[in-house]
Amino acid sequence: MSLGLGCPGGVRISKEGQIVASQLVTDLTKSIEACDTIEALEGVRVSIFGKKGILTESMKGLAQCSPDEKKVRGKELNDSKEILEALLLERRAVLSLSKIQEEVAKAWGDITLDSQEVWEGKLHPLTRTQERILEFFGSRGFHFAQGPQIETQDNNFTFLNMPDHHPARQSQDTFYLKAINPDKSNEPLLLRTHTSTVQIRQMQHQKPPFRLLSLGSVFRSDYDATHTPMFHQLEGLVIEKHIDMGHLKGILTDFLTYFFDDKNLKIRFRPSYFPFTEPGAEVDIGYSLHEGKVRLGGDEKWLEVLGCGMVHPNVLKNCAINPENNQGFAFGMGLERLTMLKGGMSDLRPFFEGDLRWLSHYGYMAMFKPLLGQGDI
Ligand code: PHE
Repeated sequence: MSLGLGCPGGVRISKEGQIVASQLVTDLTKSIEACDTIEALEGVRVSIFGKKGILTESMKGLAQCSPDEKKVRGKELNDSKEILEALLLERRAVLSLSKIQEEVAKAWGDITLDSQEVWEGKLHPLTRTQERILEFFGSRGFHFAQGPQIETQDNNFTFLNMPDHHPARQSQDTFYLKAINPDKSNEPLLLRTHTSTVQIRQMQHQKPPFRLLSLGSVFRSDYDATHTPMFHQLEGLVIEKHIDMGHLKGILTDFLTYFFDDKNLKIRFRPSYFPFTEPGAEVDIGYSLHEGKVRLGGDEKWLEVLGCGMVHPNVLKNCAINPENNQGFAFGMGLERLTMLKGGMSDLRPFFEGDLRWLSHYGYMAMFKPLLGQGDI
């Protein structure tokens, strides 16, 4: 098909030709305007400008016109072409816009409707405490290690300078198991009472210098508002040639200031006794009571938050480390106690009850990732 403007087919040109041309443009304009989808519009475009389209065919027909006719018909065809192209563009813009509007309307729905309740998961406050601890000690070159929860009496007591019948063994309310240590007849295994066992394993497997952080579940037979049979401990151990109490005091002061996010936090080191340290100390932080609630800061009252000290030479010897050339410090603290002080919880038991109301109140948004990988020893 052609616009009938070319010379073949004996179509008369001049005036009649112009009428045919403008009639066709009028018809095609109607077809373009009738398109209500971009796909339909594309069909019309192909029928005009495609390889076998009306205009393409008419252009081809020009070849057979005389030079004078070519001039007139050529101009008419070019004018029609421009008009039709402009119409197609305009219609495409209108259809694209209405398509976008339709999609936006679908996506947004009715903004006057009540919002739907979205359940968002929260991180357990203990997880957040663990992340903050790893962030702090990780940035100071500590390496993170884990060990088993079922332990031998040697790793839990003897190597930590608590030989058989040492009174400190009784103070830890240990859970003994029926299972017997395969390397020692008649000696029951136990659930570790502290993560110091990880330090022992580390010192037996690797020689100093090292900075180690261990963190995990520990078990003691105790149950009330501030004690549960399972809780979490964090312990640090640094063994190097020239490490002293000053380093220990410095890093723990920095840590507590960072953890409680309080530059004016009152921190007190008080001499204490642990069989595996010499000297040993406990660290207290200052607080005051406001309507029965603990408020950190001030030095009205003191609360113990951790134990620490220089590693006892006997512990080093038990792990085949020469105390003449090496010394170091260790510290240990309960994650739950730190978390309760930071988050203002007064009862420890809900930490392990999985109550979603408690979790959504005390939990944290999941934004942080631990900086360190985990290792087992
Ligand atoms: N392991 C000790 C405890 O559970 C904590 C501690 C670690 C104290 C290191 C001093 C040094 O009580």
